[in-house]
Amino acid sequence: MSTSSVEPSPHDRVRIFDTTLRDGEQAPGFSMTPEQKIELAHLLASLKVDVIEAGFAAASPGDSAAIRRIASEINGPTLCSLARTTLSDIDAAAEALAPARHRRLHIFLATSPIHREAKLRMSRLEVLKAIETALTHARGTFDEIEFSAEDALRTEEDFLVEAMSCAAAFGADVLNVPDTVGVSEPGEIRRIFEMLCEQVDRPDHVVFSAHCHNDLGLAVSNSLAAVQGGARQIECAINGIGERAGNCSLEEVVMALNVRPDIYPAASSVDTTQLWATSQKLMRLTGTTLAPNKAIVGKNAFAHEAGIHQHGMIADRRTYEIMTPESVGAPGTALVLGKHSGKHALNQRLAQLGYQPDPERLDDVFKAFKALADAHGEVMDADLVAIMEGYSPSGSVWTVLRTELRTTAGPQPKQFARVELSHPERGRVSDIASGEGPVAAAFAAVQTITGMKADIISLETRMIRAREGREFLAEIEVELDGDRVRGRARGPDIVTAAIDSLLFAFERHQPYHRQPAETAMHAAAS
Ligand code: KIV
Ligand code: ZN
Repeated sequence: MSTSSVEPSPHDRVRIFDTTLRDGEQAPGFSMTPEQKIELAHLLASLKVDVIEAGFAAASPGDSAAIRRIASEINGPTLCSLARTTLSDIDAAAEALAPARHRRLHIFLATSPIHREAKLRMSRLEVLKAIETALTHARGTFDEIEFSAEDALRTEEDFLVEAMSCAAAFGADVLNVPDTVGVSEPGEIRRIFEMLCEQVDRPDHVVFSAHCHNDLGLAVSNSLAAVQGGARQIECAINGIGERAGNCSLEEVVMALNVRPDIYPAASSVDTTQLWATSQKLMRLTGTTLAPNKAIVGKNAFAHEAGIHQHGMIADRRTYEIMTPESVGAPGTALVLGKHSGKHALNQRLAQLGYQPDPERLDDVFKAFKALADAHGEVMDADLVAIMEGYSPSGSVWTVLRTELRTTAGPQPKQFARVELSHPERGRVSDIASGEGPVAAAFAAVQTITGMKADIISLETRMIRAREGREFLAEIEVELDGDRVRGRARGPDIVTAAIDSLLFAFERHQPYHRQPAETAMHAAAS
């Protein structure tokens, strides 16, 4: 056994240990079925993470079965299961990981005084003994073993060095230093990693790992500081999910390493072009959403609305983009047209739609555009076409007169909706339809009445307070003839607001589709 030197060699490789399916999945609202876990594990493999922590085999028979299925289906990354230091946990992990090509056991035991005294009721010596017993039992059964000193960042430094050295002496290949409660900060964590690299007695191949929680919003910064301090594995999760405020976000830490190789001494092997798709898949599987301004994978991560920014982006995208959307697999830069946008961006979008208004006409269109942006937020291509062609993009021609919802009794209840709409030319029209849920049934009826077919991509409803009392706001995104269109409406109840948002999306779409011939004529005339 030797004591390795502290100096990290520049451009080393940092392993990415993904814990979306373990630490992430154990957080409220993120639990997944075994099928969902397998679906996500395939994407993690395409992302080329180094290790997938597939679960905690001893936690439940379901977790164990999911790990086993992932272990038999997934090629590429090392497969890992969490375990306490109890021998039955280690045996459960061995059984679940048996089909994997490369198996890692992840044993954890708390080392901090608060955990030793309040939770474990163990002395320092008993903790060291438990590490020795567990590792001795596990040795030879797995391809590699990771030891985590839970709550490491609140552990006395001398004891942390002792516990880590003990784990390395009994066969740990990876020494993980979790900031379990997310209390550290970059300067401190970097110094601790430097200290551990200096003082822990270990064989040369042993790697230090960071596992940072985000309670103070510092998980990514702390993980990067750990790399500067000598860590060569980062534990992280897609979209930063995990206990409480979550774990280090995989997409953020990987892109920071990518964008700033000048300051981080190690690079990952992750295929960054798969980040967006993996993040989207996790959201769909767990039914969760991300803040629009979430770094790397948020809806606005590559969107620019402010006029000055749009002007800069049109001149040279590097003015406001430090990485391209293509590099993370995002759909593309969006110059969102809204009330902050300038004439320059409006004119460019009009040109893309085939319009070349003269300066006077552009002034008028700009005024109509700003009025629309004030009323509806984002202005879409269909709205611009409507302005140029003289249609009204401000609401639907249909009015919702009545909705009646009914659910049948019995073991497999069905939902029906009767919707009555009124149209200035067609008069009152109604239809009855069924669907999976009252809103789906109402949407089916609306589609029959209007003759428009849409795929609903998302629907968000929320209650808002209006002067007259309660009101509901619905925001919908649909796919119509291959175009994505959004609608938004308020209503006295959820279903009416949802129907109106769908009708508004239909209305926004129509002029857009009436336009090619007219657009060409207009472009030729102007
Ligand atoms: O946060 C933590 O300490 C953990 C360990 C099990 C690594 O998740
Ligand atoms: Zn954790």
